Amino acid sequence: LYQEALHKQVTFLQLQNAELKQELAEYKHKYQALIAQKEHDAFNNYQVELLALFNAIEDVIIVLNAEGRYLKVAPSSAPSLYKPAVEMVGKTMHEVLPSVIADNFLDCVQQAIATKKTRKIEYSLFIDNREICFEASIAVMGEDTVVWVARDISERKQMENQLRKQTENLEQTIQELKRTQTQMLQSEKMSSLGQLVAGVAHEINNPVNFIHGNLTHVEQYSQDLLELIDLYQQYNLTQPEIQDLLHELDLEFIQTDLPKTLKSMKIGTQRIREIVLSLRTFSRMDEAEFKEVDIHEGIDSTLLILQHRLKEQVKRPGIEIIKYYGKLPLIECYAGQLNQVFMNLLTNAIDAMEEKNSTRTFEEIQANPNQIIIRTSVIDTNWIEIAIADNGIGMTDEVQKQMLNPFFTTKPIGSGTGMGMSISYQIITEKHSGKLNCFSTLNQGTEFLIQIPIRQ
Ligand SMILES: Nc1ncnc2c1ncn2[C@@H]1O[C@H](COP(=O)(O)OP(=O)(O)O)[C@@H](O)[C@H]1O
Ligand SMILES: [Mg+2]
Repeated sequence: LYQEALHKQVTFLQLQNAELKQELAEYKHKYQALIAQKEHDAFNNYQVELLALFNAIEDVIIVLNAEGRYLKVAPSSAPSLYKPAVEMVGKTMHEVLPSVIADNFLDCVQQAIATKKTRKIEYSLFIDNREICFEASIAVMGEDTVVWVARDISERKQMENQLRKQTENLEQTIQELKRTQTQMLQSEKMSSLGQLVAGVAHEINNPVNFIHGNLTHVEQYSQDLLELIDLYQQYNLTQPEIQDLLHELDLEFIQTDLPKTLKSMKIGTQRIREIVLSLRTFSRMDEAEFKEVDIHEGIDSTLLILQHRLKEQVKRPGIEIIKYYGKLPLIECYAGQLNQVFMNLLTNAIDAMEEKNSTRTFEEIQANPNQIIIRTSVIDTNWIEIAIADNGIGMTDEVQKQMLNPFFTTKPIGSGTGMGMSISYQIITEKHSGKLNCFSTLNQGTEFLIQIPIRQ
């Protein structure tokens, strides 16, 4: 009986044990489910938050792998996508985009992964026939994935462009104003200078002609007088006073020197006449209208005016002028203004050679002399070309770029005005519808090419 009771008890306990075990298992299960649910909720919340964040950022957000395959595309991207997201996810960039762009993009993705650094790029895509500009950051996300965040900056770009255009316009206006000012200043200067030169030339012209004309007579008279003295000398030289005076005067010397003196005076006045003529040609008062002129005459008169700078000096031999003049027709132009251009180019050439001379000895210059080569030719039925080349100091690219700007000069204060080139350019291009080109090599020399129409 006791045993039976014990057995019952055991069975009961066993049963109870099994029940408890089951209950425990259930609790465990419930507990696990609960935790899972909680985790799930938390994750869900997290995802919802993330999604909200994504949507709030109105950017294109794309996850890509190292081979450029689209893994995920955030919904916020939709308005700025090259193709709808469904047509992108799972595909590679090369399957979606034009290959040149895809090449470039894949490069960026792979570089970001390789360097583990965020890359920034700007690019534009045609979406719905509209060019959209993007600014993108490509950041490493996993082992071999990146997140590509791109922002539409078309509006900003447009504004930038507008601003740039406005600035350009303003700069142009300023440039134009500057040029007008220079032109006004210069034309004022030139016209008063021209008038002065013309006036002086005119005033000198008369007395010089007077002297020059009379020199011929003086020559004749002195010749006659010398002959007369010769004759006297043969017959009537006994008086001691005459003897004394003859001795004092050194008659023999006078006899040989007087003709020489007169000859050099004649050369001198001839030269003054040439200079006066050049001054007149140079400052031609017919500036107001187009005239048919001989260009060579203009160049030659300018060279003559510059003679004092070309001739031999203590520190250097004379500057060689080599002319290759072609057969030119008369050219319809503003002669005075064109002469001014020749003057500007030639003085610049001389300046450039003097600058090069400053580091050379007389002998060195003599071995490699200063030369200005002037070529003229007809190049077309209605065009001529004038080339002025020097073997001076030359220009850097930087100087060449700025050379035409008013007031630009590389010369010391007081010696350069920086106006010569800008005025010359204007006279050639605007006043004569021509072209002015420059070829220069540093330390070798410079050549200016002027091209102007024969008829305007
Ligand atoms: N033939 C040349 N060789 C070298 N540099 C030159 C030559 N012509 C012009 N330049 C450069 O262009 C600049 C501007 O010339 P320009 O307008 O005549 O002004 P400026 O002669 O008063 O300096 C010069 O300062 C010089 O640097
Ligand atoms: Mg100059």
